[in-house]
This record gives sequence, C-alpha cells and structure tokens, in this order.
Amino acid sequence: MVAEDGTVLASSISEHGPFASPETAWAEQDPADWWRASQTAIRAVIEASGVDPKQIRGVGLIGQMHGAVLLDEHGAVLRPSIIWCDQRTDEQCQWITNTVGAKKLLELTCNPALTNFTLTKLLWVRQHEPEIWKKVRHVLLPKDYVRFRLSGEYAIDVADASGTLMLDVTHRRWSDELLGLVGIDKAILPPVFESPEVCARISSQAEGLTGIPAGTPIVAGAGDQAAGAVGMGITRPGAVSVTLGTSGVVFAATERPSLDPGGRLHTFCHAIPGRWHVMGVTQAAGLSLRWIRDQFCEPGYDYPELSKEAAGVPPGCDGVLWAPYLMGERTPHLDSSVRAALIGLAASHTRGHVARAVMEGVAFSQRDSFTIFAELGVPVKKIRVSGGAARSTLWKQVQADVYGHAVETIAADEGGAYGAAILAGVGTGVWPSVDDACDRCVKTAEVVEPLPANIAVMNRQYKRYSRIYPALKAIYQST
Ligand code: XUL
Repeated sequence: MVAEDGTVLASSISEHGPFASPETAWAEQDPADWWRASQTAIRAVIEASGVDPKQIRGVGLIGQMHGAVLLDEHGAVLRPSIIWCDQRTDEQCQWITNTVGAKKLLELTCNPALTNFTLTKLLWVRQHEPEIWKKVRHVLLPKDYVRFRLSGEYAIDVADASGTLMLDVTHRRWSDELLGLVGIDKAILPPVFESPEVCARISSQAEGLTGIPAGTPIVAGAGDQAAGAVGMGITRPGAVSVTLGTSGVVFAATERPSLDPGGRLHTFCHAIPGRWHVMGVTQAAGLSLRWIRDQFCEPGYDYPELSKEAAGVPPGCDGVLWAPYLMGERTPHLDSSVRAALIGLAASHTRGHVARAVMEGVAFSQRDSFTIFAELGVPVKKIRVSGGAARSTLWKQVQADVYGHAVETIAADEGGAYGAAILAGVGTGVWPSVDDACDRCVKTAEVVEPLPANIAVMNRQYKRYSRIYPALKAIYQST
C-alpha cells in the first residue's frame, strides 16, 4: 500500500504454489491459487497498514505475463493455465509463422512467434483439447483473472496484451488482421485499456473477501515487467532496468516501437500511454538459483547461505560456467529445445563455485541483451536492478562487473507492485502523469560500481560463455 507521497505504508506477500510440470518443460498453474494468494495478501496489507479501507483511492494490478486463463460462459476456469515459461508450443509457432508469414507477423504484432506468447497456447488447446476449446468464451491473462474475481469485469492493458502476439503493438489495439489469419474470434478477448485507465470497480462480493470497499476503482495495470519498470522509474530512453525474478529481464523505454529485425528482443507497449519498450528475457534467472537450492541443498539452507558460500569464490569461479537454459532460452537464442549446462568442473570445486557460477551465468545471459541494445542503438545511461538478485550484495557486484557499468537499487524495492500502485494513483488523479509520479516517488537507494580488475575477468569469461550455446546446439541436434 502506497501513500500520496510515494511512501510504502505496508506490504504483504502471500505465496502461491510452484508450477506443475506434467511433461518436460511444460508449466501450468491453477488460477484459483492466484486468487487465494491475492485475497490473503490484500487482507494482510490492509491490516498491517492500519489505514481505514475507505481511504483507498484505487487498486493497481500486476502479474506474470503471457499465461492463458480460459473461462467458459459463466466465468469458470476450464483448465489449468499454461503459463509464460511453458515450452510445448513449437509446432504452433511454426504454424503461425507459415500461416501469417514471418515478415507480416513482425509488421502486425512487432514480434515473432515464440512459445511463451499466449496465442501459441490458445492454438495448442484448440488442436489438442477441442472439447475444452469449444467451451472457451473468455481468455484472460493471470492478473486479469484476479481483476475478474475482484470486479466481475473482463479487461486487459496494452502492455500485457503485447505479450499475447495478438496486439497491434504499434497502434495499441487488437490486430483484426492477425486474428482473422489465425482464426481467433475477437469476442473471446477482453477490451484493451491504457495501463493507468480505470476499467473496473471492486464488487460487493470482493469487498467481503478482501476488505476493499465496493466501488473502489481498479486501473488496468500491467504485466510484471512494464509495471516493474514504472516502479523503478524506467520511463524515458536511457534508463534501463534489470529485473532478476524467476525470469530475468533487461528493459528499456522507447519513444516509438523499436523493432529488432531478428526478433531477439520483445517490442511491447509500455505501461505509459504513448510509449513503448524493448526487452530481452532470460527464461531461468532466479529459477536457476532456486533449482540449485531446491535440488541440491539441505532443508533450511537458503539463498543467504548460498550467497555466503559463493562470496568465498573468486570472480570467474576458477573456470566454472553456467548456461541458464533450464527452460529453453529466449534472448538471444529463441530456442525452446536447448537445456542448461554446468561447464568446467573439477574435484576441487565446491557448492560455492556452482552458486557463484549460476549468478555469473545469469548475468552473462543478461549481458547478451545489452549486446543487442548496442547493436540497435538503444541508449544505456543508467542501470537499475531489482528482484531477488538486487537483495544479494554479491549478485549486485557480479552484475556491475559483468555489465561493466554501475548498477543502482531503488528505495521502494517492492517489485512491480510499486509500479502498479503508481498506475493506480495516476488513474485516480493522485498524480497527473506516470512521469510526474515516478519523478516524485522513485528514489535511488545505492549505487554499486564495477571493480576494474573484475571487469577484465568477466570480459574473458563472457567470451567463453558465448561459445557454450553453439556447442550445446551441436550436441542436442546430433542423433
Ligand atoms: C516476460 C516474462 C516474465 C514473466 C514471469 O516476457 O515472461 O516476465 O511474466 O516473470
């Protein structure tokens, strides 16, 4: 909960379960779990703030992107949501590219067909589960399902809609032409709003469940990356954010849609009216470290312990390298089939070497996006970092050393939730614009400078890292 001067009055987290993986590299979640966790967090944050709920001016929403929530005519969920990192839709991607044409697809949506994007998941259900597809009357993204439960309204914002591969990103509306070519009925898609626009109100049923008064306005909000960028003040060209959550994203605001002809970066609408952004995505960033913790560490041994062990290992990890392709990779390889690799192990290496190699490998993967930014002329003047990695002193230093650039953290490091609150404030008249709100509210907390000796080591390691992917491809493509 955020006050008019930008202060965080209270915050609360309620976890939902991990995703289910019924087959290798599939990923599904139950939307009811998101709604349950949201109710718990909302009730807890109201209680912790001590604020009279009648004073809540507006509600903002942020959520993981790309997942498909399929509802029937009564608004009931038809199957678990196939979420952003699910990799089952290669065949559908190929079909879209053949049916629409690669060049036309870029023209219409600004992006190529990738397994992450919502349209590919809809086509998979249409092909493999026709009985379910017949009943689909509404398609929502994850946070929009929470809005539906809060208000009974179907709605989406331009930033999140960009990741469906059905939006005309340049004109910020559904692409009738694309929908016609792939045979999706526009009637199943929600109306599209700009992120700070009020598009729904809390229902009396949701008041009973959450404590937010009925009638409180809800703005459209944004997907996690665009909302996160607002919360970090990434509003104008030159400011770039790196967010290492489950995925890892390098994000830059642009004045117009800036196309990567290779499709390696996503070109999406920003959560700020009249602005766009580009972003490069690492599929398994925080997920890499979580995987190491969950699979190879004893119970109770958590990130701080792993960080401590990793801090005892020199930069460059005595030669150990991690390629973070646990769920395939997006930027720069656009390859759903590649898998992760730990390279260069010797008997003398410790768990600390592996933990530090994971941190470095994820940062190298982010650096790939900076390499493409440089190619496309996207300016990088200031880098702000957030997510779990911004809370680790070591991972911040690793990032500064790998990027060869100072990294900043911000005072209100609440992830995308802070951005969603800014959007709610703008939509309900607390602040006149997103730029104005960010200028007032977003404050730098700490600046971490790269260490020259480490930069040299990281440059060498990055060169070696860059040779891993072609080698892996040669191995998994061989019979
Ligand atoms: C962005 C993306 C992630 C997910 C989960 O394209 O896939 O941001 O929303 O974090």
